[in-house]
Amino acid sequence: MELERILIVENDVSDRDKMVEAVTSMGHKCLVARDGLDALELLVTNRVDLIISSINLPGMDGLALMSRVLEVMPETAFIMIAGYGRDYSYEKVIGAGAGDFIKKPFTTQEFKNKLKRVLSQRRLEEENRRLLKAQASLNERLATILAMATDLTSELDVDRLFQLIIGKVTEAMAAERTSLYVIDWDNEEIWTKVAEQVEQIRLPLGEGISGRVAKTGETINIPDAWDLPYFNRDFDRRHNFRTRSVLCLPIRNQQGGTIGVIQVINKKGGEIFALEDEALLKSLSAQVGIALENSLLHEELKLSFDSSIRALSATVDARHPLTAGHSQRVTEYALMIGEELNLSEDDLEVLKYAALLHDIGKIGIRDEVLLKNGSFTSEERREMNTHPEKTKKILENFHFPRSLNRVPETAAHHHEKVNGEGYPDGLTGDEMNLGSKILAAADVFDALTSRRDYPKYCNGEKMDCEPMPLERAVNILKKDAGSHFDVDVVEAFLRCLPRALLHYRGNHFPEEYVDQMLRQLAPDRLP
Ligand SMILES: [Fe+2]
Ligand SMILES: [Fe+2]
Repeated sequence: MELERILIVENDVSDRDKMVEAVTSMGHKCLVARDGLDALELLVTNRVDLIISSINLPGMDGLALMSRVLEVMPETAFIMIAGYGRDYSYEKVIGAGAGDFIKKPFTTQEFKNKLKRVLSQRRLEEENRRLLKAQASLNERLATILAMATDLTSELDVDRLFQLIIGKVTEAMAAERTSLYVIDWDNEEIWTKVAEQVEQIRLPLGEGISGRVAKTGETINIPDAWDLPYFNRDFDRRHNFRTRSVLCLPIRNQQGGTIGVIQVINKKGGEIFALEDEALLKSLSAQVGIALENSLLHEELKLSFDSSIRALSATVDARHPLTAGHSQRVTEYALMIGEELNLSEDDLEVLKYAALLHDIGKIGIRDEVLLKNGSFTSEERREMNTHPEKTKKILENFHFPRSLNRVPETAAHHHEKVNGEGYPDGLTGDEMNLGSKILAAADVFDALTSRRDYPKYCNGEKMDCEPMPLERAVNILKKDAGSHFDVDVVEAFLRCLPRALLHYRGNHFPEEYVDQMLRQLAPDRLP
């Protein structure tokens, strides 16, 4: 056990020598002061466990010294010594904070016994304080882990989960930075997402600290990363950052497989990550593992759902070479309008799938009608106009997740008009949902600006089958706002039109066609 440091404050030389001898013979380190001020000066630069002080001292007396010391160092133990013939009550001295009290004259044995008792009492108190502190830090750690588990498991979106984990772990670990990587075992890479950046960052497995932890599953805890030969200092140089302490751990799924890596950088206060930090990060990374795996599975399901719907949508468009890409473009336009109108993420998802599938009912239209090169007879027009109802019937047989249950209705009303003259239900603007109104505008705009087999009509005038000049298509949207189209939707569409045109410049739209329009609409956005 570490031996105690003891300060003896005594003015009387012979008593002082007697005590110093006893203390050193017991193996303790001994400091000596002649009076209270001398003692206080020594305490500025020296830490002591016990002060043995005479009460009668020149200037500041022993009781005043004890009160001054306990104010700033309440853990210091005291033994007070009363002078020859002086009468101090035991209660008064103990009540003032002393651990024990001796009256002069005393024998060396009596002194040693008191010393032993006070020191063992102090050790007990010290141990209690240490245990209480450990208990408090354990409670704090448990609370952090529990709070993190609750927060993380309710977040399924991978992008948001990444940011959530990074924020929570940085705070809980009192670090400057946190990096989170997911392992792509197929491509032998680790990848991460950085806030505000759409692109993933990918690094080879085995490279650098995180790559190494991903590959081997080991834990790396190092005071200074620059001491590691495999640490890449380029990132620090490029970002004017200095990586010092690093703690990096593997993240495992419930089956024990390594799925990612978490790395905390630079313990705040210039310290290193202690064993206690390692234990905390291990507990946190178990929560991270569960949340991350859930969200990755959810993402995979979403991707597979999305790609099936897109494939289905493209199949419908592909029945006619001239409509190829129509649903995809309507989706792009609809989403741009939806974002412009600040639709929620859920509403944008409904809009996306309704747009991709709005013409799926055309599957049920006979080839003679669907593929006809020329104007429709009224019979053929009637058949063609049944496609929104067919869309609704087909989509009602889909099992959409609850958040997407408005897709069939939204898609089925893409040919309704706000004045109630559309089909199939003749709904008015008040009865249509916003998604259907957006689809109506996006759908007509794409039909007008794409090549078709049948001629287009404008103000009763029969036009050719070529894409209508953009300016004319825009004028139709403007003119029909309030009768065919919703006014707010048209205004939002016109605001994001430059973006829509640039998206398809040189792809669906010839460059010259787009540039001519941009010159009028937004000259500053010309490429
Ligand atoms: Fe349609
Ligand atoms: Fe359409």
